[in-house]
Formats: sequence, structure tokens, C-alpha cells
Amino acid sequence: MKRTCEPELMEDKTQVLAYAQADFSEPNDRFIKSLKTFIGAGGFEGYALDLGCGPGDISCRFAMAYPSAHIDALDGSAAMLDYAESTIPSDLKTRVRFIRGKLQTVSLPRSRYELIFSNSLLHHLPEPQALWHFIKRYATNGTRVAIMDLFRPQSVQQAKDIVEIYAASEPEILQRDFYHSLLAALTLEEIEEQLHEAGLKFDVARISDRHVFISGAIIFK
Ligand SMILES: C[S@@+](CC[C@H](N)C(=O)[O-])C[C@H]1O[C@@H](n2cnc3c(N)ncnc32)[C@H](O)[C@@H]1O
Repeated sequence: MKRTCEPELMEDKTQVLAYAQADFSEPNDRFIKSLKTFIGAGGFEGYALDLGCGPGDISCRFAMAYPSAHIDALDGSAAMLDYAESTIPSDLKTRVRFIRGKLQTVSLPRSRYELIFSNSLLHHLPEPQALWHFIKRYATNGTRVAIMDLFRPQSVQQAKDIVEIYAASEPEILQRDFYHSLLAALTLEEIEEQLHEAGLKFDVARISDRHVFISGAIIFK
């Protein structure tokens, strides 16, 4: 099945509210668990960057898991960041900074981050190389990178089945967005090709019937 792109930013207020209030605890837990395994027993302190942070749930979960970490959380959607700012626990406000901007044009307050992570951003990008270029721009030697996203099912029917299995009880707008996200997602092979083109030697692992986890460290020669 060919890729069908969806709108890049999530700016519609109804869509944002449906997304922000949906129960993503299962995939968000999965992401934090995979991230913790990737980071390892040494833990993490320093500056991390969350790309396409949306309502900020994952940025905050990460901040709670790593009390010495500072997080810059980027999103291009004002509506998403308004929600994030209004729900962040007050004790995290000194360590989690929400920044509005698009990957393709933003200039971040720091020039380098020790950890860059992202959940469910890649499939939004019409030109996915933008993500890998951005990561290289804000990485230093040894920066660790962890990206989770959906991967594209083999057929429209398979996409419909996945929506039915995991989102049947969600509002219609969320089911529709999920379906469009599955059609906009990349295949594991496409991700491997992009990484090769970008010169990034990352692992690409299928971690569920719909999620891929991409991880590795940046080594500049
Ligand atoms: C599906 S949401 C994921 C939100 C969050 N990471 C999560 O897991 O709940 C994707 C987010 O990426 C943002 N986004 C899409 N393209 C972007 C870009 N080029 N630059 C910055 N943010 C972008 C959207 O506005 C949206 O909030």
C-alpha cells in the first residue's frame, strides 16, 4: 500500500482536545519503557529534546523518570502547546520547557542535546529526511536517539482492523486520525533506507503489531 500523507501539524482545537484527552497510557508506557531500556542502568542527566511533543505527556513522564534531566519539548502547534502548558505538573515547570516551532525552520535555545527522542512525529512529516537532518544538527558526538512511531500496514483493510482493535471505543475524530496516521506511516524498509541515506547507523525494531522503535547513538567521524 502506498503512503498517503496527512496534515503535518495538529492545529485544529477539537482534534487536539480529542488527542490530548485520549488514553494513550499503553503506547506511552511502552515508549518510556523502551527508552529506559535503551538508556540503561547508568541513567540520564543533562539536556534532552522531545520532538513533536504534542500535549506533553511523554515529556513529563520522562522528566519524572529522570529527576536530573532538563527537557526542551518542541511542537509546531500552538493548540498542542497551550494544552501542554495548562496540564504540566507545577513541580516539572523548571525542567520542562515547551517551545513552539517547526523542525524545518526553528532555532532552538541550545545548540546540542545529549538525548533526542520522539513519539509519533515521523509519520507527520511529508519529507521524513527533515527529522534525520534535524537530529544531526542538534546532536553532538555520542548523543543518543530514540524514536517510536507507527509503521504502515500492508493494506487499507489491515489499517481498518488495527483501528477497530485499538480505538473502537474512542471518539470518531480520534479513530479517523488514527486511520490516517496508519496510512501516512512509513514501512520499516523505508525507514532503513532513509537512515542509510542520512548516514545514521540506528537499530530499527518492530516492537508491536503497529509500532517501530528506532534507536542508536550519533557518531561524527
Ligand atoms: C501524533 S502527535 C504526537 C504527540 C506526542 N509526541 C505524543 O506521543 O503524544 C504529533 C505532533 O507532532 C507535531 N508536528 C508535526 N510536524 C511537525 C513539525 N514539522 N515540527 C514540529 N512539530 C510537528 C504535531 O503538531 C503534533 O502535535
